[in-house]
Amino acid sequence: MQPVTPSMRSNYPRTARPHGERHDLKNLRAILPYAWEFRGRVALALSCLVLAKVANVGLPLVLKQIVDSLGAGPGREITLPIILLLGYGLLRLSNSLFNELRDAIFAKVRYRAMRRLSAQILSHLHRLSLRFHLERKTGAISRDLERGTRSVSSILNYLVFNILPTAAEFALVASILLINYEPAFTVVIFGTVATYVAFTFALTEWRMHFRHTMNALDSRANTQAVDSLVNYETVKYFNNERFEADRYDQTLARWEQSAVKSQTSMSALNFGQGAIIAVGVTLLMVFASQGVVEGRLTIGDLVMVNAFLLQLFIPLNFLGIVYRQVKYALADMDLMLRLLEKRAEVQDGQDALELDAGRGEVAFDKVSFAYHRNRPILHRVSFTVSPGQKVAVVGASGAGKSTLARLLFRFYDVTEGRIVLNGQDIRDVTQSSLRAAIGIVPQDTVLFNASIYYNIAYAHPEAGLEEVIGAARLAHVHHFIETLPEGYDTVVGERGLKLSGGEKQRIAIARVILKKPAVLVFDEATSALDSKSEQAILAALAEVAAHHPTLVIAHRLSTIIDADEILVMDAGRIVERGSHGALLAAGGPYAQMWALQQQGRERRGPLPTADETAALFLERDQG
Ligand SMILES: Nc1ncnc2c1ncn2[C@@H]1O[C@H](COP(=O)(O)OP(=O)(O)OP(=O)(O)O)[C@@H](O)[C@H]1O
Ligand SMILES: [Mg+2]
Repeated sequence: MQPVTPSMRSNYPRTARPHGERHDLKNLRAILPYAWEFRGRVALALSCLVLAKVANVGLPLVLKQIVDSLGAGPGREITLPIILLLGYGLLRLSNSLFNELRDAIFAKVRYRAMRRLSAQILSHLHRLSLRFHLERKTGAISRDLERGTRSVSSILNYLVFNILPTAAEFALVASILLINYEPAFTVVIFGTVATYVAFTFALTEWRMHFRHTMNALDSRANTQAVDSLVNYETVKYFNNERFEADRYDQTLARWEQSAVKSQTSMSALNFGQGAIIAVGVTLLMVFASQGVVEGRLTIGDLVMVNAFLLQLFIPLNFLGIVYRQVKYALADMDLMLRLLEKRAEVQDGQDALELDAGRGEVAFDKVSFAYHRNRPILHRVSFTVSPGQKVAVVGASGAGKSTLARLLFRFYDVTEGRIVLNGQDIRDVTQSSLRAAIGIVPQDTVLFNASIYYNIAYAHPEAGLEEVIGAARLAHVHHFIETLPEGYDTVVGERGLKLSGGEKQRIAIARVILKKPAVLVFDEATSALDSKSEQAILAALAEVAAHHPTLVIAHRLSTIIDADEILVMDAGRIVERGSHGALLAAGGPYAQMWALQQQGRERRGPLPTADETAALFLERDQG
């Protein structure tokens, strides 16, 4: 057999087949590499298994000897068969010893496989493109993952602890009976087992879809629950607790239906299995008793056959459950492996080089782009940001401004044209080297539910406290953090919800400052700040960005009057470009926007706005 290593997994076809049939065998093969890694251990566990079974099968044989030696015959003296009795005890002991050894030795294989798979899947999910993550349902994925990894462990388990042992025992018992007794015994045993297996397989196949439906509904219910909890505030704003509970309960009602069907059909299956075994056992006992009556067999033989049957059919009865569990586990595993087969939409080219960011000049060259084929978003957008330059993008909501940042980060590939960073098309370099060169403060900052320190240091996990504080100072957030009772150790809540919008933005700015990228992108990075702290941060950022190309997306025009070039976008096109002064003089759309925003300012009059009042409290941060 050719050795299979985990890395060979990548050779398996990874084409996505959302509704196609995957074969159980193929799924099973997919987990083999995980067991192969510990082939020595697996072999050891299997030897323990064989030893345990040999001991187990020896028991009825010794029992027969004991019964026969105790049997009173004409002129026979009965003595205590001490050796046999000791042997019986020893066999029992070794049976349990080898069973436990097998479990202990195999544990590492199981848990390592679970660990490997879970880690592999998380990295895989991170490799998948933004489009996948925007469409996925977190609740359902986490359920699938949990069930999927558990399924691998249970399949390995069932295989080593149930299926193989039962098969081994069956083979041993059958050969003993075949060698020592008339063929009728073997025929009945084979017949019973064959009927049993066929019946179990057929019925289990039939009722599998109840289980599939049940799983799907279970995942859906979970998605709904998670989604409603994530949107806790929205649910309250709209007073929709009842609505959410009802929606959840409706899904649960359908889940209940299929769960009940699944359970009822299982009872039918169990009863059928019980009936088949009852018939087989009765037949065998009839044959054996007949043998004793006719003097062909001893009482010991009868006891032995009975003991064999009990030993054989009890695990066989279990085998029915095991078969079902394995089928379910395979179904669960299937979902997980399909996820692993999903290909990332944006991939590094075969000969992708490391980006040489240099001073980071960025150029968009006639870039067109569409998220969906029939809805173009960008039309032949061209501009260049040179080192030390600040280029601003303004325009209506939905014009495609944030899309420019996503394309530069290569979350999606452009449909036409190209994006060039320091002379290299970003499709020709590795994604990781590209992303290392760009720092972005996104439009909606989301933080990890961890400490503020963790969130800032995320840009650069080895950074020391001094560096983190330095970045926080530049982002004017250090003094705020110091006022918190737990300072940098304050945990920010899920998605950073325990902080205000402006605080989150400033932490995101600190994080980018710490990253020290070649290219900076600010997507409405200061939109949640009051004008005063905004001005202070912009001044600090201007210093940080002095030698880097900076792309600034802004709504508030007052923040970008110093830009080297301002691009005015409308519906995916650059409709106007130039410096602030030139654009005002041109009297086009930019001049109109400017006039509108100035008007708003004047109308507010001399009274401080809410923003400006807040600024007074932030004075301390300016120092
Ligand atoms: N993942 C997506 N799939 C499909 N369409 C998208 C996706 N993301 C954005 N869009 C669409 O692309 C258009 C441009 O979006 P973009 O986020 O670039 O706008 P924007 O100019 O940044 O707007 P805003 O000022 O409101 O932030 C919008 O019409 C939006 O609906
Ligand atoms: Mg945007």
